[in-house]
Formats: sequence, C-alpha cells, structure tokens
Amino acid sequence: MIIEPRTRGFICLTSHPIGCEQNIKDQIAYVQSKGKIEGAKKVLVIGASTGFGLASRISSAFGSDAATIGVFFDKPATEGRPGSPGFYNTAAFEQEATKAGLYAKSINGDAFSNEIKEQVVNLIKEDLGQIDLVIYSLASPVRTHPISGKRFKSVLKPIGEVFTNKTVDFHTGKVSEISINPAEGEDVENTVTVMGGEDWKMWMDALQSENLLSEGATTVAYSYIGPEVTKPVYRNGTIGAAKDDLEATAFKITDDLKSLNGKAYVSVNKALVTQASSAIPVIPLYISLLFKVMKAKGIHEGCIEQIQRLYSERLFGGDLNLDAKGRIRVDDWEMREDVQAEIAELWQKATTENLAEIGDLEGYSKEFFKLFGFKVDGVDYNVDVNELVNIPSIQ
Ligand code: NAI
Repeated sequence: MIIEPRTRGFICLTSHPIGCEQNIKDQIAYVQSKGKIEGAKKVLVIGASTGFGLASRISSAFGSDAATIGVFFDKPATEGRPGSPGFYNTAAFEQEATKAGLYAKSINGDAFSNEIKEQVVNLIKEDLGQIDLVIYSLASPVRTHPISGKRFKSVLKPIGEVFTNKTVDFHTGKVSEISINPAEGEDVENTVTVMGGEDWKMWMDALQSENLLSEGATTVAYSYIGPEVTKPVYRNGTIGAAKDDLEATAFKITDDLKSLNGKAYVSVNKALVTQASSAIPVIPLYISLLFKVMKAKGIHEGCIEQIQRLYSERLFGGDLNLDAKGRIRVDDWEMREDVQAEIAELWQKATTENLAEIGDLEGYSKEFFKLFGFKVDGVDYNVDVNELVNIPSIQ
C-alpha cells in the first residue's frame, strides 16, 4: 500500500515501515561512525522501541556488540493498517542486528504487568544467563497496577495554581496563550504511580531475586529538568513529582544492589521531539527555540547522539560527572547559560508571524514526522510498500 501521514491533533495515526527502517539504519551508522564503546555486553532495555530506549538498544548493540532484549508495547500491522512505529523500528533493528551477528530478541506487551516480567525472566534464563545493564525508558500515560489491578492515569498539570504561558501548534505555526488548570484530587499520586520509580524497582527486584544480574550490574532510568519557562508544567508539575520519585528510587535500587556492587543511576537527558513531548503544552514552543539556538551553535543532538555520548563519555567513559543530586547530566549543553539566555530572549519575542524565522518550526515538524517514518531523507513515499512486517523474534 501507499502510506501517507494521517494526523489527529498531536498524534500521527499511520507510520511507514521503510522510513522507520531508514531511521534505524541512520542511527546505526551514527553509532558505528563514533567507534567502539567498551560497554555492557548483555543488555535489557525496557521501553526499547522508540526514543531514548531505542537509541540505547542501538548504542549497546552497535557500539558494544551487546546482546539485547527489548521490551515495548506496540501494535503490529493488519492488512491495510500500518503498525505502530516502534513495531517497524524493532523489526528493522532485529534484522540489522542479526546481519551483524548480534543476539536480539524482543517482547511486546505491558511492561508494568507480572506476566511480561516473567516472560523476560524466563528468556534471560534460557538465553543470556545474566544481564549487565538494564535501561529503563518507559513513557506511558497509563499503568495497570500488577498487585491491585487498578488502572492509573498520569496527567501533565501544574501543581497549586493555574499556569498561563505561550505555546505553539507546530502543525500550523500558530502561537497562542494557553492556561492549564492545576492538578486536583489524586492527579499527583496517580502520575507518580505511572511514571515514578515503583515499576523500575519491581523490575530490578524480579531480576535480582532470580539471580539474573551480573556482578557490577548497572541500571539507568531517564529524567528531565528543563528551563524556568516550562517549570510550572514540567519539573514543578505532576510529571516532575514522578521524576522526583524516579530519582529517589535510584538510591533505593543502589542499596539493593550492594551485594553485587551494582549501581542505579538516573540520566537527565535533553528535551527532544517525541510523541509524549509534543502533547505537553508550552514544550513544543520551547523545543523549537532550543533547536534553533543549539543548531546555530553546532551543539544540537537527537536521541542517538545523546545516548552515544551518555555511553561513551559518562557511563563507560570513566567520568560520570554526577551533579549534586547524584544524577548523570547529558542535558548539560541544553542547560548552558548562553543557550538558555538566548532562548529566554526569543521567548519574549515569539509570535505566529516570526516563529518560523526565530525558531526551528520546520525542524520540529520534520522530527515529528520522522518519528513515524515520514519525511525521512532517501525514502520514496510513492512506492508501494508491504505494511505487514514481522519482528523476527516475535512470530
Ligand atoms: P517514547 O514514547 O519515545 O518511548 C517510550 C517507550 O516505552 C516505547 O518503546 C514504548 O513502546 C514503551 N512503552 C510505553 N508503555 C509501555 C508499557 N506499558 N509496556 C511496555 N512498553 C511500554 O519516550 P521517550 O521520550 O524516549 O521517553 C523515555 C524516557 O525518557 C521517559 O522516562 C521520559 O520522561 C524521558 N525523557 C524524555 C525526554 C524527551 O524530551 N522526550 C527528555 C528527557 C527524558
């Protein structure tokens, strides 16, 4: 079939298998161009099919020749209906890994559930024995709790008072003012239950109790801080409360891993275009200004550049360079004073009329479509493609 982008609001309903495959090949080529990393050899990535988790899987496999197990929640294609991008990404990743002689298996299902944890435990027992590195990179709006069976929803709201600021509809370029009502009822607790650290610890407990973690095993989860302008809706909002909980969980897991000399870290990453960040008001305007400023300074990075740097310079580079709260920082270039000062100035000026010029609206939009395999350089979208792609390890 010929597959075209079909958007509804902040989501794209279709995705393109060849575009996704090309994205994977480009990310692999980038990692290979940077040379080998003396990193972990047996890696479990939870949230492995898109964004930072996918970049982590690619960096481990093609930077360190690692065997990888990837867990994600994606939709396979049915006749006439494309699958989700993570499904196509993983199909292409496994094909490339196999060609390179690397072990790669994947499990598609709800990572919050006991069933999927059990499947992963059994797969490790059968195939890899033990794991050296666990990357925890889930981004989900909902979680069904494995003990109570209750379904929790996360929300993106400020805490305490209404937050009013500028935002942009990146499809139309219209800059407008938006007001977001504060969290109410159990919004904060629910968001912490979905995006906080409890599930990360459950994964580590499940692996450790079955003796599936190697001596010196490391685990890393991803977090975000960001600038003053997004603080009320991000770091001081409901999602920030969840990130505080995630960061506190790193210390608990490190305690648990003492007998193995293991460590849990949080890495604070840069703001990037993903489905999740496109849905948070105010963030798209910030990102479009951020991209413009960072590109002009020659320090722009995407997911793969961020994770390649995290691995080669911090995690396996001998210099974790932790901040006062014990976190790894690869948002260091985003948070540079000169970068933030320029954004603050542009923020005041930004209007519908000038944003295409003072911000990188085009770059934002292109990145958004690229998430779904569209607008990828070198792909002919007029060619008929087979939407029914399989992930080799999931038949
Ligand atoms: P993403 O949406 O690209 O990837 C999320 C992954 O989680 C996908 O592989 C998806 O299949 C998987 N997933 C979601 N729900 C699942 C479930 N129930 N069971 C199994 N798999 C599930 O997200 P992104 O942006 O890469 O985020 C990953 C982490 O990085 C998050 O903790 C996020 O807060 C953090 N982060 C994101 C930043 C950004 O700007 N996008 C910046 C800094 C940190």
